[in-house]
Amino acid sequence: MIAKPAIPDVLREPGPGIGKPLSRVDGPLKVTGQARYAAEFNVPGLVHGYIVSSTITKGRITRIDTAAALRRPGVLHVFTHENRPHVAWFDRKWKDEDAPSGSPFRPLYDDRIVHAMQPVALVVAETFEAAREGARLVQVEYEAEPHETDLAARRHEAFTPGKEKGGFEPPPKPRGDPDRALAEAAVKVDVEYVQPTEHHNPMEMHGSTVVYNDDGTLTVHDKTQGAPNSHSWVCSVFGLSKSAVRVISPFVGGAFGSGLRPQHQLFMAVMAALQLKRSVRVELSRPQMFTFGHRPPTIQRVALGAAPDGTLQAMIHEAVQESSQFENYVEIVVNWSGQQYRCDNVRLDYKLARLDVFTPLDMRAPGAATGVPAIEMAMDELAHALRMDPVELRLRNYTDRDPNQDKPFSSKELRACFAQGAERFGWSRRNPQPRSMREGRQLIGWGVASGVWDAMQGQADARATLGIDGHLVVASATADIGTGTYTVMSQIAAGTLGLPIGNVTFKLGDSALPMAPIEGGSWTVSSVGSAVLAACERVRGRLYKLAAKMEGAPLGKAKPADMVLTDGHVALAADPARRVPIAEVMRSGGVLAIEEEARSVPYYVKRAQHTLATHSAVFAEVRVDEDLGTVQVSRIVSAVAAGRIINPKTAGSQVMGGVVMGIGMALEEETFMDHGLGRYMNHDLAEYHVPVNADIGSIDVIFVDEHDEVVNPLGAKGVGEIGIVGVPAAIANAVFHATGVRVRELPITLDKVLAGLSRRSAA
Ligand code: MOS
Repeated sequence: MIAKPAIPDVLREPGPGIGKPLSRVDGPLKVTGQARYAAEFNVPGLVHGYIVSSTITKGRITRIDTAAALRRPGVLHVFTHENRPHVAWFDRKWKDEDAPSGSPFRPLYDDRIVHAMQPVALVVAETFEAAREGARLVQVEYEAEPHETDLAARRHEAFTPGKEKGGFEPPPKPRGDPDRALAEAAVKVDVEYVQPTEHHNPMEMHGSTVVYNDDGTLTVHDKTQGAPNSHSWVCSVFGLSKSAVRVISPFVGGAFGSGLRPQHQLFMAVMAALQLKRSVRVELSRPQMFTFGHRPPTIQRVALGAAPDGTLQAMIHEAVQESSQFENYVEIVVNWSGQQYRCDNVRLDYKLARLDVFTPLDMRAPGAATGVPAIEMAMDELAHALRMDPVELRLRNYTDRDPNQDKPFSSKELRACFAQGAERFGWSRRNPQPRSMREGRQLIGWGVASGVWDAMQGQADARATLGIDGHLVVASATADIGTGTYTVMSQIAAGTLGLPIGNVTFKLGDSALPMAPIEGGSWTVSSVGSAVLAACERVRGRLYKLAAKMEGAPLGKAKPADMVLTDGHVALAADPARRVPIAEVMRSGGVLAIEEEARSVPYYVKRAQHTLATHSAVFAEVRVDEDLGTVQVSRIVSAVAAGRIINPKTAGSQVMGGVVMGIGMALEEETFMDHGLGRYMNHDLAEYHVPVNADIGSIDVIFVDEHDEVVNPLGAKGVGEIGIVGVPAAIANAVFHATGVRVRELPITLDKVLAGLSRRSAA
């Protein structure tokens, strides 16, 4: 048995900052250009690398001629598989923190080409321009082999992956007799949904500036979601001692998952720096941002059967998803369906198909952003077939236990999400009939869907140092990829020690700081926040002990348990007017600083007894031009249950950003593959469409109250990913409600809407 942890003061009594809509503490640095990113560090003698990308998709390099490139003034060296230095990686199978099972891609390893635009050479020159021109002068000849990049062509050769990596749960065993229950159901849907490849496309491209120090050590400025991950990877790959490398990454210009694995520019830059004994920068071009991982395309069948009153009787959800030839990239895609709804006859199935592409990579809400839209669109189709309100259908099949694992949820306020979201949206005024709402040429539709994401936690360390001047420095090697980590960690620290937020500095993005996991999976507040809380609680404990021993006993006979920290003072809980300034407590104890480090670990036992998840209810209004087929999302209301919200402003921005990305997923984002060439064709931001300001209407975020004592001492579940999950289905369902046209292939572009409208009018 693990003892029930005491409820920390931050929960009982929000201190300064906790739960307050504080603006980003790093905001001024960012808007004034003082925040520097990985490719912005300049040191004397810095040289530049530019990557040459393969022009074939599969085969081998038969000849590589670097003579012309080397003649270009300024070019120093051209690295290829023929002359690359021997590095430790090529002896060992080292995996990064987010590596799937399989054999990781090794740049410049040999003459094999396994995906389009594979890096085949690195040109290093005195200037970026010389390196880029040199890259154009490298002549590569290939022997091409036939490739396959079309998921539909391989779907029948798909295989069932095993338990591939941490966090991946294979689908649960089937329950009941789903095929028979489906056959016998009074009302049913049995349909297929298709989702495309998507790429992350953060504003900041991946770059690494490797500073070669005089003593031969490396200071690496890397774009990453985990400085410790890049650090241990570089040390292992190049056989360097931990102290010979330091990875620094205090600012990251967006990532969405692209920085969860060290990308190949890091390998290239470190290799070149070690060989040339120079400081080297390598930055990927925007097209090269499409070469190292993506949200994989997926084909899904969803079959649902229900009784006339809406009770679910059968659920079948089968997904086939792309992976590469060299790694088994897996997501949880179908499991959510069996978790969200009560149903006795369920089969969930997930398979991978090997294609000649780079291995896919986690992208915001990996798996949930793929599988949940399918089940939530199917639920809408079922509601329509039943002539039932889609919110009502979801509530009829609501479950307070996770049917997959037969466990209670640690907390699940999804009912409140539906109620508050519907109220804010005005859902009760919806006419259920498709095409029943119109303004001129615009058909108006209202759709709903729910969302779910895991509430995960990893082990993390943090260090808190309180100076006698009242300034607190808290440090952990975590990242802030734009999510607000600096801000919420400062709030947790300030709240725990009763200090003004201005007295707190939070340091992150440095492999020399106390260990933290990669920032991903919406688990940073849960993991690192709990460590910050624990470290600050230790500092607080030391202060209380010092206060109890003070000369003259200003707090009487008070024991630590009788004290609180407030407003820079140690005070009596029962009589806060009796208090002593923190500085005086420290002075009387003869200490100039109090430093404590703490490690937080999840409540493993309690967690194992529960299913932990965030939930949302998303309501969408679309306007569809009947003649042009264009879809505009005029309103979104997203009601989210994510436990305690440390900062409603940054958390609200996370959900809002997720909604914007969900709008992109529903209507715009798609990486087009020319299967003849096996290449992505729209690998730039002109043709890879993401929402712009004009695409976005009103976005209203609600956080419903949710209390959770299982998830972590903060009661906070994390909000980085839940925002996107329900959005694509809510929009797709709204498009159906507006037009009577069901588009089952994302994104819902105007050609698909128009084709549906003309089929409709022909029928
Ligand atoms: Mo996210 S895909 O966990 O960075």
